[in-house]
Amino acid sequence: MQYKHIILIGMPASGKSSVGAQLAAKLGKPLYDNDLLLEEKHAQSISSIFKELGEDKFRAYESEMLKEVLGREAGVISLGGGSVIDQENRDVIKNNNLVVYLQAQIATLIKNLADSDERPLLAGQADKEDLLKSLLQQRDDLYRECCSIIVDVDGLSLQEITEEIISRIANENST
Ligand code: S3P
Repeated sequence: MQYKHIILIGMPASGKSSVGAQLAAKLGKPLYDNDLLLEEKHAQSISSIFKELGEDKFRAYESEMLKEVLGREAGVISLGGGSVIDQENRDVIKNNNLVVYLQAQIATLIKNLADSDERPLLAGQADKEDLLKSLLQQRDDLYRECCSIIVDVDGLSLQEITEEIISRIANENST
């Protein structure tokens, strides 16, 4: 399969940012963490963008950043969990990129959520499990629609997830 970027998608706390960093380092490719880049570009944290400008504005920033990043030198892109909600985003993500869905059970997401206050959608939610379930229900089909491969991350270390992705990519390259 011919592709430009490797793009990591999946639920919040599925490990996209950490895996992306390790994957990029191992492959010797640039890392583009879309959320971090948009925070830098607008000199504002995501929490503060949500609070002061609202989710719609955040989504607009997110889509704009994604399109900018897709135009850069081939690398590893990690995306915020909600990037797939927008149809146009899904179209550009799929186009000529290898998209990896980091699939995780709710229990894994909860375990990974060390500090959920950094995630405005989850901050202050009494029942994070219920919210994550409903987000997963809304998004699972969208992640599947976009992805080239699915990697189950449950019970795997960061290192193991990265190695699994590298071996799956090698398979893709040989087909
Ligand atoms: C969001 C996930 C966050 C971030 C924003 C919205 C979402 O990224 O983009 O808070 O809608 O799921 P992570 O998936 O890295 O937590």
